[in-house]
Amino acid sequence: MSAFQTVRGMRDLLNEEAKTFTHVITKARETALLFGFKEAITPHVEPLELLSAKSGEEIRQRMFIFKDLGGRQVALRPEFTASIARLATTNLKTEPKPLKLFSTGTVYRYDEPQRGRYREFWQSNFELIGSNKPEADTEIILLTNKFLQTLHLQGYAFKIGHIGIIRSILNQDGIDEKTQNAILQRMDKKEYEEALKLINSEKCRHTLQCLINIKGKNWQDTLTQINALASDYEKAKEATKNLSEVLTLVTSSTEISLTVEPAFARGLEYYTGLIFEVYIPQLEIALGGGGRYDRLIEAFGGEPTPAVGCAHGIDRIVIALQTQNTAATAIDEKKVVVIPITEAVKTEALKIAQSLRDQGVSTEFELMGRKMGKALEDADKRNLDYAIIIGERELEENTAVIKDLKKREQTTVAIANLIEKIKN
Ligand code: HAM
Repeated sequence: MSAFQTVRGMRDLLNEEAKTFTHVITKARETALLFGFKEAITPHVEPLELLSAKSGEEIRQRMFIFKDLGGRQVALRPEFTASIARLATTNLKTEPKPLKLFSTGTVYRYDEPQRGRYREFWQSNFELIGSNKPEADTEIILLTNKFLQTLHLQGYAFKIGHIGIIRSILNQDGIDEKTQNAILQRMDKKEYEEALKLINSEKCRHTLQCLINIKGKNWQDTLTQINALASDYEKAKEATKNLSEVLTLVTSSTEISLTVEPAFARGLEYYTGLIFEVYIPQLEIALGGGGRYDRLIEAFGGEPTPAVGCAHGIDRIVIALQTQNTAATAIDEKKVVVIPITEAVKTEALKIAQSLRDQGVSTEFELMGRKMGKALEDADKRNLDYAIIIGERELEENTAVIKDLKKREQTTVAIANLIEKIKN
């Protein structure tokens, strides 16, 4: 046995699992196209300063940081948002708004490894830059909804909050930004007692305590409760109004399951407005999350530019599909192997394989020169659907034998009809 293993928290993805990953990424890319997002491919390694500027303590402490040979302090990206915000202040600064960018790839965080939590994991990331309108927040929720729907995930639900509500309450009571960040970090970890301890003002502590207890599936009722609680907090009421505008748009344009939790916070520090995460009932970990961050681009030296975005955890979505048993059925394209019986028909057999590939069928060719029996055994082992057997006699009649490896039936069909037979 080799002494070499993967680095802790990093995985090899193989066979069905690798296939499911690719499938999910393909669906994310299709969703990007469907909503008019363009793909941006950015480096895995970025300046440490960029990645740590506004991400918050939680992420800062978990980055893979190193010095390159030129002495630069760099890190492996823990997410995409900082890189995309960098683009918005440099190469894409003068692009017409909104900028709508999609990225996918691996990101790195020194998290404690467990099921659904890795140190290298995949995200599909969407950023919508330049609009402060509720329809922009709506678009991000709708695309997440569409993405999970196309994957046939069942029972997923959105948890929705608004950082503007919490920060407005803390601001009005004069709590400085650093303490606010510390409070939000604890709230993100549901350490509410610890969070409340950081607040001196009795009134503010009480308001936040009440906010923590508000939670509801009927969003209109929940927003009414928040408004009643925040009656003295003008800015918090504005934030609630903004949340109401987004939820009105979202719920009137699609069927969606959501809970409003106004005291819900997220690990990243740059959020300023609506935030959300999405879950399935079988897993306690979020499949994705995002929100509005209206001050990040300005903090990176750009013009003040509103923005909203989200990232989906591909590794967790794959676990969700496996849990719900939809992973296999989601990708049911047929797989075929073409087997020439003799040397003489090899060229023609290759041509047939090529023509099937041209028509979009996943087609393998017998590459080991095995006899038919062995080649079929191998096709069985690798779970292929059809073997197409090319013999001299059949070729003369422009036909081939097609063997359904699952049903164990075989028939002779005209070469021109092979595609129809496979696809049906
Ligand atoms: P995030 O919530 O930190 O947001 O990550 C998004 C998703 O990545 C999570 O919901 C989860 O599914 C997945 N994820 C996070 N950590 C791990 C891990 N250790 N192992 C496996 N999966 C994980 C962001 O990254 C923001 N940049 C999203 C965003 C974009 N906000 C605005 N624009």
